[in-house]
Amino acid sequence: MEKTKVIAHRGAAAYAPENTLPSFEKAVDMGVDGLELDVHLSKDREVVVIHDERIDQTSNGTGFVKDLTLAELKNFDFGSWFNMNFCQTKIPTLEEVIELLDRKKWTGLLNIEIKSGIVIYPGIEEKLIDIVRENNLGDRVIFSSFNHQCLKVIKEIEEKAEIGLLYVSNIIDPWLYAEYLGAAALHPEFHIVYNNPHLVEKCREKSIAINTYTVDKEKHLTGLFKYKIDGIITNKPDLALKVRRKY
Ligand code: G3P
Ligand code: CA
Repeated sequence: MEKTKVIAHRGAAAYAPENTLPSFEKAVDMGVDGLELDVHLSKDREVVVIHDERIDQTSNGTGFVKDLTLAELKNFDFGSWFNMNFCQTKIPTLEEVIELLDRKKWTGLLNIEIKSGIVIYPGIEEKLIDIVRENNLGDRVIFSSFNHQCLKVIKEIEEKAEIGLLYVSNIIDPWLYAEYLGAAALHPEFHIVYNNPHLVEKCREKSIAINTYTVDKEKHLTGLFKYKIDGIITNKPDLALKVRRKY
């Protein structure tokens, strides 16, 4: 059985501004197996990496990503809110993240979370599949989203694409739902998995992976590593890697 993957949530987000190149670089340097990141579309339809649909929380700017061009977004500072050492860090495009990973010769798993709900980005799925194809990342990418319709569209465009269903509250027999949508994985909030061996067992039986989020406490990491699930998404990859050594 393979080791549970340590997947860095928005990069090493406990130590660097989330969803930025320094955050992804730090996570890779820590030795993670995977990276999780969030994507939106700018006004000029570039795929940019940021969690919120607005830039207010993580930059010195204001407004919706969808209302700003990439050039406009690049004018803002996405690092100082976290720590002045990251002053003038720019918002990355998905392609810039991929370039960084190539430069670092990193070949881990990329979990691309499609943010869609408050703002809808028609056509984002095609754009993402194009980027994945152009960079030959097919077997290294899993798309996830709370918007399962987006994931259905991903599968319609690229049948072989792997999708992971994000959810926060319990779904009855989620492995059946995953099978129904052709999902390779469930991405439940971690309390759903914690103390739920039945879920782990059923998913294993059905060959549906479980990648759970966001696990930052040693106690929770320990409990979840014991289950030997497929992936743990964490803001503290160094801690997760340390805890994993015991299992
Ligand atoms: O992909 C797991 C996790 O990132 C989902 O929640 O809000 O942190 O994007 P959020
Ligand atoms: Ca996310």
